[in-house]
Parts: sequence; C-alpha cells; structure tokens
Amino acid sequence: MCGIIGYCSKNGKASAVIFEDLKRMEYRGYDSSGIAMISAGKLIIRKGIGKLDEVNRRYKLDKIPGQVGIGHTRWATHGGVTKPNTHPHTDCTGQIAVIHNGIIDNYQELRRDLIKRGHHFASETDTEVIPHKIEDELKKGHSLEEAVMTIAPRLEGSYAFLAISTKEPGKIVGTRKGSPLIVGMGNHQAFAASDSLALAGQINQLFMLGEGDVAVLTADKAVFYDSTGREIHIKASKPDAVWSENDKGGYDYFMLKEIMEQPKSLVAAALQDKELFTSVALDILRAGQVIVTACGSSRYSALVGRYLFSSVGKKFCEVVMASEFQYFADSVSKNTLVLAISQSGETLDVIEGVELARKAGAKIVSIINRPQSSLGELSHNVLYLNCGPEIGVAATKSFLNQLAIFYLLSFSMVHSFDMAVDSIRKVSRQVSRTIDWNKDELARITEEYYMKNDFYYIARGINFAIASEGALKLKEISYIHAEGMPAGELKHGTLSLIEKGTPVLVICPGDYTYKETLGNAIEAKSRGAKIIAVSDVDNEIYDHWIRLPKVHELLYPILATLRLQLLAYNMAIKRGHNPDMPRNLAKSVTVK
Ligand code: G6P
Repeated sequence: MCGIIGYCSKNGKASAVIFEDLKRMEYRGYDSSGIAMISAGKLIIRKGIGKLDEVNRRYKLDKIPGQVGIGHTRWATHGGVTKPNTHPHTDCTGQIAVIHNGIIDNYQELRRDLIKRGHHFASETDTEVIPHKIEDELKKGHSLEEAVMTIAPRLEGSYAFLAISTKEPGKIVGTRKGSPLIVGMGNHQAFAASDSLALAGQINQLFMLGEGDVAVLTADKAVFYDSTGREIHIKASKPDAVWSENDKGGYDYFMLKEIMEQPKSLVAAALQDKELFTSVALDILRAGQVIVTACGSSRYSALVGRYLFSSVGKKFCEVVMASEFQYFADSVSKNTLVLAISQSGETLDVIEGVELARKAGAKIVSIINRPQSSLGELSHNVLYLNCGPEIGVAATKSFLNQLAIFYLLSFSMVHSFDMAVDSIRKVSRQVSRTIDWNKDELARITEEYYMKNDFYYIARGINFAIASEGALKLKEISYIHAEGMPAGELKHGTLSLIEKGTPVLVICPGDYTYKETLGNAIEAKSRGAKIIAVSDVDNEIYDHWIRLPKVHELLYPILATLRLQLLAYNMAIKRGHNPDMPRNLAKSVTVK
C-alpha cells in the first residue's frame, strides 16, 4: 500500500538507486509514481501515472541529477489516479517535497485552515497538507526536523512520510505512526523505506522506527528522536540474507516462480521450534476462547486452521474477518487468545483489531512471514512462515505455508509435532512430483472457459475454504467473477445463477465428503453446469478432471490449492493480464 523510499548519498546517480528500490516495492501500489531530487540547490520532481517502467519511459525518473531524493509508488486512496495526485507533493514555494503512505484522517479540516491562510493546493490528496504545514514551520525559522516534529502530532490517522527541503539539501527527515518505515545504513549511504525488501543487498544495518519516532538522515548518519523531540538510541539489526533474493529466477512472473518454489518453501515451513509450537498449542487449548483474525487469503488459511484445530485438537475457534474484528472487541477478555494471521504483518485491519484485543488483556499469537513487522511487535508469540519474500500480489507460497503451520500447530495440541513435520516433508515431495501433472488439462480448461464471466467453486469440510481461496485467486488476477462456497450451500441461492455452460469447479477428493460433494455437483450439472473436478477419483459426471494424488484427508488442501493457483495463473495470462500486479490491488494493505 504505497511504497516510499528516501536516499541520501554522495553519489550523483541517486535517482537510479531510488528507481531500482521503488521497483522492489511496486507490489505495494502501482497506480502512479514519482521521484523528487535536490539538485544544485533546486527541487526537481518528475512523476506520472501508470506502472513504474511506463512512467520511467516517459519521464526518465532514474536520470534526475542529485545525491539526495525521495520516491513513491502509489495505491490511490484520497484523490483519483491523476498526475497532480501523484507523489511527491510540494508546498507553495516549491522548495519542500513530501511522500506519504497512510491516510491523514483530519486532512479536510487542515486543508481548509491552510487555504484560509493563503496556501494553494495542487492535488486532491490528504498528503498535500504535510508540505504546506512544513512550509509554515520553516518560515518561522525552524529546521526541517523541528518542523516535522511540530506538525506530526497534529496529523490524525496513519502515516509514514519523508520530507526534503532545498534549504537543507543534504538531509531527509521522516516519521511514522501506524504505517511502516525502516531506516537502513550502507556504505556512505542512508535509506528510509516502507519495506526492508527495497534495500536488499545495499545496507548492513537496519533500524526499526517506533510509533512517533523521527529519523534525520544524511549520507553518513542516522539520528533518531522520539515524539517528544528527545534524541533516542535505536538498536541496529542485521538485514536477513534470505530477504535479499528478489528476482524472478527465470520465470516470466513472480507469481509463477512463487508457485513453483512451493515444494521448497513447504520444507522451510516445517523447520520450526518444537517447544514453541507445543507451548502455543497448549495456550490455545487452555484459552477460554480462541479468535482467529485475518484478511484475504490469510483468512481462508485460518478457516482451514479452524477445521484442523477442531478435528485434531478438538478445540473450536472462531474466525473473524479482521476488518470486522473491532466490532466484537466487547467480547474479548484476558481469557481470549487471539491468533492473527498475516503474510506481511502490516495489514492495518489486522493490527487495529489486535491492538484492541491486547488492551482488553488477550494473549496475542501471530503467524507472519515478514520479519520485523508491526504485528510481530504487538504479539506475545510469533510463528514464522519461513517462505522468504513473496512479491506477486496474489498470495501463493505464503498461503501454502500458512496451511502447513496450522497443520503443525493442530498436531502439537496432541503432542504429535514430529509426526506432523514428517507429513509436511512428505507432502512437499508430493507437491513436487505432481506439479506438472495437469498441464494439458489446465491448458484445455483455460482455452474453453477464459471468456466466461462467472465461475463457481464448491467443496465441503476442510476444502470449502480452498474453494474460496481458488475463487479469490481467479478473480483477483484474471478479473473473472468467481465465488467459492460450501458445496451444500449452492442450492440455497446460488444455484439460480447456474445456466447452460456455467463452469462449476468442485474439489471432491475421495474422502468422507466425496459422495455428498459429488451429489451437489450433479445438481449443478443437471442445470447445465460444466463440471471441473479436482479429485484423486475419476467420475463420469466430470467434464474436466484435474488430478490429485491420494493423500491423507487433512492434506488435500495443500495439493488442491496448487492446482487452483495454476488455473488462475493460466487464465490471467490468457486474458492478457499481469498476474503480479492486478489492477486496484496491493500486496500490503496499510490503510483501513
Ligand atoms: C491484500 C492482498 C491479499 C492478502 C491480504 C492479506 O488484500 O492483496 O493477497 O491476502 O492483503 O494480507 P496479509 O499480509 O495480512 O496476509
């Protein structure tokens, strides 16, 4: 959700570095982008709408001269996708430039007040109030950091922003509240960014800014202050080498690379601390109530987790959509254990609910992929997915690893962690062995249905959430409307939408749900549906059969998901869409 980067160097080609770092954060937003540099005492801003490469072709962002600058890739919230609304934004004098991630909730009132006092606005964004407010402070003779420290407390909402000014040309000042911002130091170069992934391979020290902290960067130094203006020491950490890998590894898209590396990432998911898993599992069993909170794909993994907890650990838990969790805060107490699932650890909907739960005394356990995340900071215990960077906006390997973590956790409830580790290793080999199984069938299905407007995905029991995840994958990257639901629910409304030729994808492994699920597929077929079955058992009612290997019933979700990811990927490619950057979406959603 918007990527921001600041770079102070002694290198005249700083804009090329900023551009490359922005590319690595493009998954956070790609509606428009821009860079501001201070060059020979002047502010140069270039920006435009479209993906970064397109903007660069038109405006040569990476060729702006200067040693200090800031860059932004936008996911529009306030104000449409237009050039004036593209960051960086400036003040009335054109001497200050600001980039921002987050939302300033009180921007309307601040903007009205600034206009009354003679400021002129060039955009419809909430962000633009920041450079104008800094302008007022600089006019009073304050330094850039004093200006930032004075105005930040007056901004309501969430923000991470960076500011530069021609009056102090070697410096970048940044602060954060509710949105991520990290600082990295390399060889005579200082960075600030939304995400450490942007800085991979360029830094040897990483600093995490706390809520309200302010960073003042020059090429050789980073100085930190708390929100009261007191200088503080922030402990440096070493950047993690795994998080430096961010190329496509020879694949056309990150999504395909990330799908294909799932056998390897599943093995990494099983590399866990047995004691930690056992202790978290016991906490879950002991808790008066367990609430799982998550969004998007992470929520679908939680629905599979709920099933595993019930069937293996005999523990019921409730899964609440993170954006709705705050409305249930009244029922949270110190007897509650909240399990928060988030690949990024930065999803604001998740974080806000967790903050409320923590205040109410709940124990917080998180399942996260990214190291050093805001959610991690809020949690009593963190279990890591270990799948390394996931760049494609649509979750793939992180989803499979979430399933693996839930599997390990549920078997830890019955003291069978080691057995569960063996099963995950075994299933990773089955994923690897069968990854190419359905190539021709998937190609046929894509050819036959890629022009369809609607798809329905159905399944029962542990696989119902996989139907929903498969439908989510299809709609988010191929823009085909798709719905996933429990197979038994189809007849309670959605069946009226089935007509001749409507594709209905049914996950029906040969387990205890097979007969009933098949019955629901037959009901759809009788109304003209085309049946695409994902199963280890053939049946004459199928129009298409996507084969699964035979596995234990609790492991079908992992093998079925792989096939649904590939189907969605093929559809997106056939329809001419970039699956890594679906329109209107972003990987890490740090606004409400
Ligand atoms: C966004 C992404 C989804 C993701 C969801 C939750 O909406 O586009 O792919 O599942 O956020 O993200 P998280 O990082 O919290 O798992």
